[in-house]
Amino acid sequence: MRIVRDVAAVRAAVASSGRVGLVPTMGAFHEGHLSLIRAARASCDLVVVWLFVNPTQFNEAADLVAYPRDEDRDARLAEACGADILFAPAVEAVYPPGFATTVTVSGVADVLEGALRPGHFAGVATVVAKMLNMVRPDIAFFGAKDAQQVAVVRRLVADLDIPTRIEVLPIVREEDGLAMSSRNVRLDPHERRRATALHRGLVAAQSAVAAGERDPGLLARAVADVLADAGIEAEYVAVVDPDSFLPVETLDRPTLIALAARVGSTRLIDNIEVAP
Ligand code: PAJ
Repeated sequence: MRIVRDVAAVRAAVASSGRVGLVPTMGAFHEGHLSLIRAARASCDLVVVWLFVNPTQFNEAADLVAYPRDEDRDARLAEACGADILFAPAVEAVYPPGFATTVTVSGVADVLEGALRPGHFAGVATVVAKMLNMVRPDIAFFGAKDAQQVAVVRRLVADLDIPTRIEVLPIVREEDGLAMSSRNVRLDPHERRRATALHRGLVAAQSAVAAGERDPGLLARAVADVLADAGIEAEYVAVVDPDSFLPVETLDRPTLIALAARVGSTRLIDNIEVAP
């Protein structure tokens, strides 16, 4: 595996390859990230892992400062999963002096995470547009963990005619159901136990759907009740269309239940797909 810092080098490698897969990440790899790299390895000739802690998508300065970074460890893990290139540009290479363009997605990027984290999705959309232009992959691999990010990226790629297929892989969870996240290391042991309520709540709602419940309000309440038992108040529990992220009136098609909650001072998100 080669570690590459500049666009010219990555373009040269990509030019002589067959099917190119890109795995966008901010590092601090866990099994969620590694599942994307392995999926890319299984279906592509050249696997490029993008590693860049993108400052423009952090709406809290403290969150950016606290974000875990360990490039040596990430490089070893990426290589073990079959990555060919670790593309880890410096901040100045991505945002050189004079940089003045922002990609703003409307609608799907305005609600939920977009409403609570001002500027977050503009930062994501801009850096994703840039990396897709830099690497020009045939396929880019994203995790369902960040379901709204997937919807924003799909909108962006369709609207800007970017010729990359977006592939989405399932959420990888700890044995007790907690969705893997680089922020989980910030939970103390007590918070770590309480955090299992996020997935338990979503599963409770899924069971309610299986038992015939179709009312989005009651499904959201079922999730909130499980969270409340663990002393957690959600920032939102939303029952939405997976593409538009607008609330559904009734559960008559595949629907997403998405939530965000702080456990202690750590902000976590999770979601589950439910179908009538
Ligand atoms: P990051 O948070 O590092 O996540 C990189 C990719 O890993 C995303 O597609 C995310 O959905 C996926 N992922 C994270 N946890 C996962 C889990 N438990 N199971 C499955 N997939 C998981 O998302 C970003 O970085 C950035 O916003 C980025 C797209 C790189 C732009 O900067």
